Amino acid sequence: MRILSIETSADETAVSIVEATGDFPLASYEILGNALHSQIELHTQYGGIFPMMAKREHAKAIVPLFQNALEQAELLTSSRQGLEQEQVEKLHEILAKEPELVEVFIAFLETHTLPEFDLIAVTSGPGLEPALWVGVNFAKALAYVTHAPVIAVNHMEGHILSSVFDVVEDNMLAQLTFPSLALLISGGHTELVLMKNWGTFEKIGQTKDDAVGEAFDKVARMMGLPYPGGPEIGIRAKKAREKKLPPFKDNLPRPMLHSGDLDFSFSGLKTSVRNALGETVLTEEQREALSRDFEDATTEVLLKKTQTALSQFGATTLVVGGGVSASPHIREVFQSTLLTSHPDVEVYFPQKKLSTDNSIMIALAGHAHHEQARTAGAITLLRADGNKSL
Ligand code: KG4
Ligand code: ZN
Repeated sequence: MRILSIETSADETAVSIVEATGDFPLASYEILGNALHSQIELHTQYGGIFPMMAKREHAKAIVPLFQNALEQAELLTSSRQGLEQEQVEKLHEILAKEPELVEVFIAFLETHTLPEFDLIAVTSGPGLEPALWVGVNFAKALAYVTHAPVIAVNHMEGHILSSVFDVVEDNMLAQLTFPSLALLISGGHTELVLMKNWGTFEKIGQTKDDAVGEAFDKVARMMGLPYPGGPEIGIRAKKAREKKLPPFKDNLPRPMLHSGDLDFSFSGLKTSVRNALGETVLTEEQREALSRDFEDATTEVLLKKTQTALSQFGATTLVVGGGVSASPHIREVFQSTLLTSHPDVEVYFPQKKLSTDNSIMIALAGHAHHEQARTAGAITLLRADGNKSL
């Protein structure tokens, strides 16, 4: 099955072409083409993502990325056959809300012939709605010209699959035993999800306010560090540990550590950092120390809640996913602590390059649900849903 996948939920525009051989979850996946454009440089100037700005960037990037993925896959053929007037009108209708995209896409179609796809997988949520719509509308336009069925994918399920892809055997998913626990930590989400099987999810804990990645980004900004804050804080925290720097603030709270449930809260921690900072102009060593203090506080809460959930539900595997799972410190602390506290639990972290948003994970999640794909007539029903839940 040749899968075209599209991701535009936040600040990464990504398009992949993936060949799946065999049935999910035992299939093997060959990445034929994979093109990604990060908007980080644009958003760095503003300290975060503005949805309408992200939308415009996706719309500018997506056709060149699609072309690039086709070239990598050696599936691009030039031709001069042009489009019928009716097709041009229909594409204008489908892409009415994406003016930056429609002319570029039509020009591309007038000079190229597209290959066949067995499935188009597109992120429909959760994420920034204006950004999501670019991917969804582009998928609809592609479905119109290629007649391929479209499956709307949940971004968070993508992160889960990303974390178990290529980590045990090349090009395959790790074979999980169930129940499995997923800890999803990203810029928009902090959730504990129980999986009784592939594709069967029960949310058992979530943040009441900020997501952990969001807290990293906001605290970084308070310290004068650029977006995204996670890696910036991580680098400095590591230095503080190496230098054994004294705490900048030794009693940062561990929010909801003893709340008796599996929920999280990070906004109070963020406020404590703001109060600790006051009017201080930080030296680089103070920044390093505070980065470590903050990283220790978040890691401790994430770890404790995860340990509680593992015990409470008798989970046999743990899957950690989402952008924050790229953190070397979180990886190290989880791996080493769980080895002692839960030696029978198999722990999975994504490969570094698959930790943050990408479209390979969208192809995997699309493959998992391809039987529910919408064919031609029903494609108009596809919608972006910023709050889509697992
Ligand atoms: O999954 P993701 O790429 O996008 C969303 O779906 O939100 O996650 C982005 C988040 C950002 O908040 C970023 O600061 C954080 O992941 N992040 C990290 C690291 N790399 C990215 N946090 C901690 N350590 C990292 N190395
Ligand atoms: Zn994500």
